[in-house]
Amino acid sequence: MRFVFLGAPGAGKGTQAELVASRFHQPKISTGDILREAVRNKTALGLQAKACLDQGKLVPDAVVVGIVKEKLAEPMCAKGFLLDGFPRTIRQAEELAELLRSRGERLDRVLNVVVPRDVVIRRLTGRRSCLKCQAVFHVELNPPRRAGICDRCGGELVQRSDDKTETVEARLSVYEQQTAPLVDYYRQRDLLSELDGSGRIEEVHQRVLGLLSAKGLA
Ligand code: AP5
Repeated sequence: MRFVFLGAPGAGKGTQAELVASRFHQPKISTGDILREAVRNKTALGLQAKACLDQGKLVPDAVVVGIVKEKLAEPMCAKGFLLDGFPRTIRQAEELAELLRSRGERLDRVLNVVVPRDVVIRRLTGRRSCLKCQAVFHVELNPPRRAGICDRCGGELVQRSDDKTETVEARLSVYEQQTAPLVDYYRQRDLLSELDGSGRIEEVHQRVLGLLSAKGLA
């Protein structure tokens, strides 16, 4: 399985990628998670990326491509991977295609998770993430058993700094300008599947499974 989960911020691509990853025992690579961990650990990468994340801007292509190249070189990615939040620009998509070509591989499918803007804003502003294990919840739509506490590891749940209303607007406009063109890019290459991301998490997951099975990919 070599999949890309594409979609606006808050569309639910991370949630769906995680479900597919654990169901099929595939590694999920989320560039957002990697960048946030670097910021928390104050590494050189984190210091470089922090301002972009805080303002809802994209981290430079060369930086993100470097991260993905390193990850895909790990043995766990030899047989497949799910990319969540990468690529996000045409340049990143071209670099990914080139990298896969050099490995004698190609993408199997790009799932574009589509959700109306008002739903996305509601999902983002209510999201809470675990400080320890990065598990994702939503205060109303996917609440933890105990408010503020991670079901998985007992860690503290916090709001991401870029989920504040003003940064959400900036991220949505960056998405429209820089990432939405990837929908046509992948459609032209006959790799795109549109996925209705509205409804409950489990409903969307069933749609993903239906789609993968219809394409003979699961
Ligand atoms: P990143 O972490 O990738 O953020 P994003 O793309 O903005 O996506 P999100 O994580 O916000 O949303 P999601 O679609 O995964 O939704 P989720 O499943 O969590 O990137 C953050 C930043 O890092 C970027 O702004 C940029 O600065 C940098 N960056 C990352 N990658 C980069 C790249 N390639 N190039 C350059 N810069 C990069 O769901 C959202 C909420 O909704 C959750 O609370 C969830 O529980 C809930 N939910 C999900 N599905 C449902 C459902 N069906 N019903 C009800 N609730 C749901």
